[in-house]
Amino acid sequence: MTDRPQALIAGANRGIGLGITRELLARGWNVIATARQPDQASALRDLSASHPGQVDIRALDMNDPAGIDAFAAALKGRALDLLLVNAGVSGPAHRSASAATAAETGDLMYTNAIAPIRLSRLLADQITSGAGMLAFTSSVMGSVALNPGGHELYRASKAALNSLTRGLWGEVKGRNITVLTLHPGWVRTDMGGPSAAVSVEDSARGMTEVMLANRGKHEHLFLDYTGKSIDW
Ligand SMILES: NC(=O)c1ccc[n+]([C@@H]2O[C@H](COP(=O)([O-])OP(=O)(O)OC[C@H]3O[C@@H](n4cnc5c(N)ncnc54)[C@H](OP(=O)(O)O)[C@@H]3O)[C@@H](O)[C@H]2O)c1
Repeated sequence: MTDRPQALIAGANRGIGLGITRELLARGWNVIATARQPDQASALRDLSASHPGQVDIRALDMNDPAGIDAFAAALKGRALDLLLVNAGVSGPAHRSASAATAAETGDLMYTNAIAPIRLSRLLADQITSGAGMLAFTSSVMGSVALNPGGHELYRASKAALNSLTRGLWGEVKGRNITVLTLHPGWVRTDMGGPSAAVSVEDSARGMTEVMLANRGKHEHLFLDYTGKSIDW
């Protein structure tokens, strides 16, 4: 088992993260899969049972800075071929910068933009040189160039994530690793809703293929789940 490539997926217990976990397991990867409440992560436990020795389920709340630090410390020294920070929230239902409280803004920005950088910076030295990759589930809604308005708080959180991933790239690009900022499509998950255009299976397969196809590129790219480049 030890020669299998190793992934860490933050936010793996449902939706797109769970779909990507399935895809990587089917391709022979080991996955450290995080959930806020592992005791309730029944889909991950089923995957662990059907892929013995391949799934390591761990607790992680991205809204808890000390918890992020402890989580990363527990993995110290572990080589990671892929770290995907996928966890994210849509923010308050009113979606309005004018209506948002400081607490709502703080939770949204921390979970979607700040925590992914805190976690990935703590683990960046453990990403394997060469084929290793840091990846982030962002959104086309984080593109400033393609912003038609609406959903302004969520857009701002993903635009902040995009900016922070570019800054992180500046720190790690000498290490021969690749950084991807990804758009999964509009996906039928709890967040995307039942009217979304893309199934979890198609998005997860596409996201996985895009990540694997770009290993070794040693660039920072903003791509959708079909591999198409997105304007920042
Ligand atoms: N669905 C879409 O159309 C769409 C489009 C563009 C981008 N995205 C992005 O894709 C990613 C996955 O979204 P999804 O559609 O799969 O949503 P989802 O079904 O609502 O799943 C969200 C995932 O994020 C985790 N999460 C949320 N807050 C967390 C926190 N504080 N700490 C740790 N984990 C947390 C959830 O864990 P719990 O179960 O513990 O809550 C869950 O695993 C997000 O970053 C989202 O912004 C989605």
